[in-house]
Amino acid sequence: ERSLLGIKELDRTEILQLLNRTAYWDNQSVKLNPVLKSHFVANMFFENSTRTRFSFEMAEKRLGVQVLNFTAAASSVEKGESIYDTVRTLESMGIDAGVVRLKPAGVLQQLSEKVSIPLVNAGDGNNEHPTQALLDMYTMTKNFGELKGLKVSIIGDIMHSRVARSNLWGLTKMGAKVQFCAPDSMKAPELAQYAPYVTMEEALKADVVMMLRVQLERHATGILQSAEEYRKQYGLTEERAAKLDKNTIIMHPAPVNRNVEIDDAVVESSQSRIFPQMANGVPVRMAVMERALL
Ligand code: CP
Repeated sequence: ERSLLGIKELDRTEILQLLNRTAYWDNQSVKLNPVLKSHFVANMFFENSTRTRFSFEMAEKRLGVQVLNFTAAASSVEKGESIYDTVRTLESMGIDAGVVRLKPAGVLQQLSEKVSIPLVNAGDGNNEHPTQALLDMYTMTKNFGELKGLKVSIIGDIMHSRVARSNLWGLTKMGAKVQFCAPDSMKAPELAQYAPYVTMEEALKADVVMMLRVQLERHATGILQSAEEYRKQYGLTEERAAKLDKNTIIMHPAPVNRNVEIDDAVVESSQSRIFPQMANGVPVRMAVMERALL
């Protein structure tokens, strides 16, 4: 039984094992393989989600897990109950693992030290989103065969992005080269020692162009220029997409701000892997839940 708090704590072998197991589940034609049918898992989302929440549920149900869905807005959190007391409450009822999404960074680590069940990080603040990076790495592997030697540009709101951080840790461990592109107001200066910041023109010359959502809900007012100005300077517009190498793939963790960081027509273009990324989220989370529970 193992927690998954971040990609930072995994080594190359563990990442490869998870990606190989993802491929195994991805290639199963039978939808229901109830190998975890005697296990109870609570999906505890203290922050909103569509993809992560439902693909965990899909993955768990495909493995026969008994799923309990917890949503903060419909719980005693609304009466002021803490995250810790909530997790301890579900633990005391007998869950075998918890999938947790949190707004603040750093809380998950403390939480995992206080409970005895494995916890899986479904996104914590701007710290890590390990299953997103795994599904991104799996999507890249599926497209290119291997991660080693790939050039990956991560473009946009790096400062607030747990996706950028988890991908940075994972991709560099796997031998890919990561570069960032962001306006000054969205840079994370502490990450510059691990990946260079390049111009938009440079960033588009890559095997993978990963666009990030401008996280409007996390910006203090005034940080973001107008959406149109952002699109003009840092958006993957149709014009820019048309100039990409034909083998370059376009990714985005979603949800997408259409016509801000990426043009509407580019989202479902032939080079886009945005919907396949979502599909790959299910086998990735099957591999992660298996690791957590077996
Ligand atoms: N990519 C992602 O984490 O999406 P959700 O916030 O909808 O889960």
